[in-house]
Amino acid sequence: MTEQTQKVALVTGGARGQGAAHAEALAVAGARVVIADVLDEVGEKTAAALAEKGLAVRYLHLDVTDPGAWAAAVDDIEEHDGGLDTLVNNAGIIRVTTLNNLDLAEWNLLQKVNTTSVLLGMQAVFPAMLKRGGGTIVNVASTAAHRGAEAYGAYSASKAAVLALTRAAALEYAPDNIRVNSISPGGVETPMNNDEPQGGTSSSAPLGRRARPEEISPLVVYLASDASSYATGADFLIDGGVTVR
Ligand SMILES: NC(=O)c1ccc[n+]([C@@H]2O[C@H](COP(=O)([O-])OP(=O)(O)OC[C@H]3O[C@@H](n4cnc5c(N)ncnc54)[C@H](O)[C@@H]3O)[C@@H](O)[C@H]2O)c1
Repeated sequence: MTEQTQKVALVTGGARGQGAAHAEALAVAGARVVIADVLDEVGEKTAAALAEKGLAVRYLHLDVTDPGAWAAAVDDIEEHDGGLDTLVNNAGIIRVTTLNNLDLAEWNLLQKVNTTSVLLGMQAVFPAMLKRGGGTIVNVASTAAHRGAEAYGAYSASKAAVLALTRAAALEYAPDNIRVNSISPGGVETPMNNDEPQGGTSSSAPLGRRARPEEISPLVVYLASDASSYATGADFLIDGGVTVR
């Protein structure tokens, strides 16, 4: 990404964890980056710390479950950043509960934050990307989309739906030069793990540890950039080998 053709990227859930690492990596690669989250104080601090390093990063409040907020965010980005080329649908939550103990409100919340948000995001950015002659979308799934694990049923279902949405969007958007892929990280060291039982799902990773967020970011940068020009509709596992077993 060069100065003349500076790309603009929106990273949801970018206040902390993997989203913050992806925002930094995209900005280092030359993009203007908007990080969006509901954790305003944390998000403002993250954006300020990255701007301090000379990176073009700013924070925007966005609840990814709210269609009206998506429309306002895209308007804001088009007005202030000149357009939008990349969306990283990264915001997510986890609940670890066996199916028989899962109540409907918890199920609905997981599907809303992890899955419906991906649909809303893609719908919201589509017209903006059309104006730029194309774009890239990276949806964050999980190895949980590929494997079964006790007490992860609702989370797994929400992430498996992300793979399905990614495939449909890739087919529907290909004629408009918008590529849509997903990534499936294994265990990553982020605050999300505080909500998981000790070890989470990654204790059996052949590499013997969880990833650091910045080990996932190069894959996001690749999928966001022209380097991945022939990739669409695919899911990219990045999991320390955990799904090989
Ligand atoms: N940590 C892991 O082991 C792991 C593994 C595979 C996939 N993932 C996925 O990676 C993504 C990033 O998670 P993380 O590990 O960085 O965890 P995290 O909890 O640190 O980050 C998630 C971010 O999403 C934000 N968010 C939650 N609800 C939101 C909403 N309604 N609107 C806007 N933002 C919202 C949170 O405030 C937070 O900043 C998630 O989609 C998660 O499911 C995580």
